[in-house]
Amino acid sequence: MRGSLLGFVPTMGALHEGHLSLVRRARSECDAVVASIFVNPLQFAPGEDFAKYPRTFEADCRSLQMEGVDVLFAPDVAEMYPNGSVTTVTVSEIGDRLDGSSRPGHFTGVATVVAKLFHAVAPTRAYFGQKDAAQLAVLQQMVRDLNFDVELVGCVIVRDWDGLALSSRNKYLSGIERRHARVLHRTLLQLQGMIAEGERQSTALVRGGMETLKAEAGIRVDYFAIVDANTLLPVTSAETGTLVAVAAYVGSTRLIDNFLVA
Ligand code: PAJ
Repeated sequence: MRGSLLGFVPTMGALHEGHLSLVRRARSECDAVVASIFVNPLQFAPGEDFAKYPRTFEADCRSLQMEGVDVLFAPDVAEMYPNGSVTTVTVSEIGDRLDGSSRPGHFTGVATVVAKLFHAVAPTRAYFGQKDAAQLAVLQQMVRDLNFDVELVGCVIVRDWDGLALSSRNKYLSGIERRHARVLHRTLLQLQGMIAEGERQSTALVRGGMETLKAEAGIRVDYFAIVDANTLLPVTSAETGTLVAVAAYVGSTRLIDNFLVA
């Protein structure tokens, strides 16, 4: 395979059109595509949804086959973390921002498993969704710091008919929660509108967004942030490339969404 491009799409399964869009992009840009399915215990804190995380392995295999994936890597926990393995990858500072702040240790779990997957698969390019914008920023930092010879490709967010970003966790939502959840996308559209009309000040934008979010009784805001997309540090003015990101609990389900300022 020397000289050919190997594309890699890591996932935790329960595949939806968001995952499959990454596979299609990899397929169109690479000579061969590897996907992985591994529900990574290391990135779930005690009390989070590891045990109940949706697992639809048979259907996932069929979807990946239909999309023309060449190899599926689906290790079990003992294969990824044999007894006695103690080494982890912590991406300091950036790994403690946004979701890393709300979910301590989460990005150490993500960086550790992705580092191990990169070693196992040795891809030329790896495809990640922009939906998990903080994850992508943390992994870019890891790739730079640890000299991984892989190019990370960020891919657009795929949404449902009502604007809700597709997520394996949407399965947890009841009908009424699902209606509450739409406020995330609605808020981001509102912010895009404010920015298009010339409002760039983060304080004004956050105030506007928080008003909309707080008016929706069925959700609890985790963060609403206007940050540099690479460092995840707050910025005072939303310029091109700035990340506007939201995380909120709908019932016990934590949802995230974002956009990059055009
Ligand atoms: P998972 O949540 O299964 O997501 C796998 C990939 O699909 C991620 O890159 C994610 O950003 C992308 N994705 C999810 N929903 C999307 C959507 N609506 N549109 C576009 N892309 C979407 O993210 C993980 O798994 C894990 O943390 C992982 C990287 C596999 C490490 O365990």
